[in-house]
Amino acid sequence: MLQFDVSQALPFLPRNWLSSRLDGLTDSRSLLEKGNGLGGGFTGWVRYPVDYNRDEFDRILQTARIIRDQSDVLIVVGIGGSYLGARAVLELVTSPNYNLFCKGPQIFFTGNTLSPDALNELLYYVRDKDFSVNVISKSGSTTESSIAFLLFRQLLERKFGRDGARNRIFATTDWKRGTLRTLATQEGYATFSVPDSIGGRYSVLTAAGLLPLAVAGIDVGALLSGASDAMGLLRQPGQDNPAWQYAAARHALYSGGKNIELLACYEPSFRFFGEWWKQLFGESEGKDSQGIFPASVEFTADLHSMGQYIQEGERNIFETVVRFTRSSSTCTLTPTPGDHSGLDFLRGRDLRFVNEQAFRGTVLAHVDGGVPNLLLSVDERTPYWVGQLIYFFEYACGLSGYLLGVNPFDQPGVEAYKDNMFALLGKPGYEEKLKFLESRC
Ligand code: PA5
Repeated sequence: MLQFDVSQALPFLPRNWLSSRLDGLTDSRSLLEKGNGLGGGFTGWVRYPVDYNRDEFDRILQTARIIRDQSDVLIVVGIGGSYLGARAVLELVTSPNYNLFCKGPQIFFTGNTLSPDALNELLYYVRDKDFSVNVISKSGSTTESSIAFLLFRQLLERKFGRDGARNRIFATTDWKRGTLRTLATQEGYATFSVPDSIGGRYSVLTAAGLLPLAVAGIDVGALLSGASDAMGLLRQPGQDNPAWQYAAARHALYSGGKNIELLACYEPSFRFFGEWWKQLFGESEGKDSQGIFPASVEFTADLHSMGQYIQEGERNIFETVVRFTRSSSTCTLTPTPGDHSGLDFLRGRDLRFVNEQAFRGTVLAHVDGGVPNLLLSVDERTPYWVGQLIYFFEYACGLSGYLLGVNPFDQPGVEAYKDNMFALLGKPGYEEKLKFLESRC
């Protein structure tokens, strides 16, 4: 099991940081387990690593094989929870440079922007390639993903005809409702579902994440197995539970004025995991004028940009540092005397050792500078361990939301920009809103 270590935050925590929260954690756990708290209808993810639909899982593996055989490129269309999890796991267990080294199809993510330049660039790239599309949208009507899907579907139909396109389009959506479901049924696309009881940001272990990951050749069974082992441990109540400790520590730090959490890691491949984590905690806690602001940093790169602020800026920050204790490769440094590299003192050292000392030195410096550090150690960047990490953060996030007294499973604030945008775009049904907006500017 991954290890949680609070020792580098203790100087900033009251003595009763955990004991005073045990009742709240017991209640929060019960709300998650029984699904009778705020947003309780969206707690299907709690047991999903064991309750998942085996038939659909087998279909995901079969479909992934088909896509790998027939396509040079997979275009994944989705936004928010319908893309971040897949991209996070893909990059973390392979590489941010996956597309340069992959043995199967290249994978590109789109549908997360309205930039014509970004969309045209990708449309141009695949114009001469055999590509498939996995469109992912639980609601089936999100503007960004609907627009991208329209453009890539039209390109597929121009290249391969409607029948050829039909065999290259795979839709992941609500199992019976929504525009995408209707279109998929009408056109006869292969479909996969996001269960009703699982919201977007908790959906990475459903078909929303598993299909693109299986296309990349990632062992999605191991991902679920890691999540299932974490589930077995983290659902046990008690003060030794690392998810309880993490939720209690961050709640206590927040109560003491630390309202920004930086998720840090020393692996560049972690970058999109940070993006996934930011959505998970940001959308779950940021409401009712409350919530820790989640941000992420990549070390050591950001020590040369954000390091100054972290060390000496406003003291409202704490860090959660994820550390992978094993790397899959080594790199021994062999400076030769007189080569003027200035690195003689590192002769014979492995780069893993250097990275480890950077981590230790940074933790100590930041703690000395007034930044509490919560440390999370994970064995390696493999699907099994990443499955554990995903479940750890999901469970801790559910507990944290309930400790804060908010609904961790809704996102009402996301609608505000959409309403304005639809009105300004002249979407039918938004006429009154448009008049109101025009009266303001
Ligand atoms: O967490 C969420 O619910 C959101 O981030 C959604 O995933 C995002 O808005 C995309 O929605 P949909 O899957 O309906 O296209």
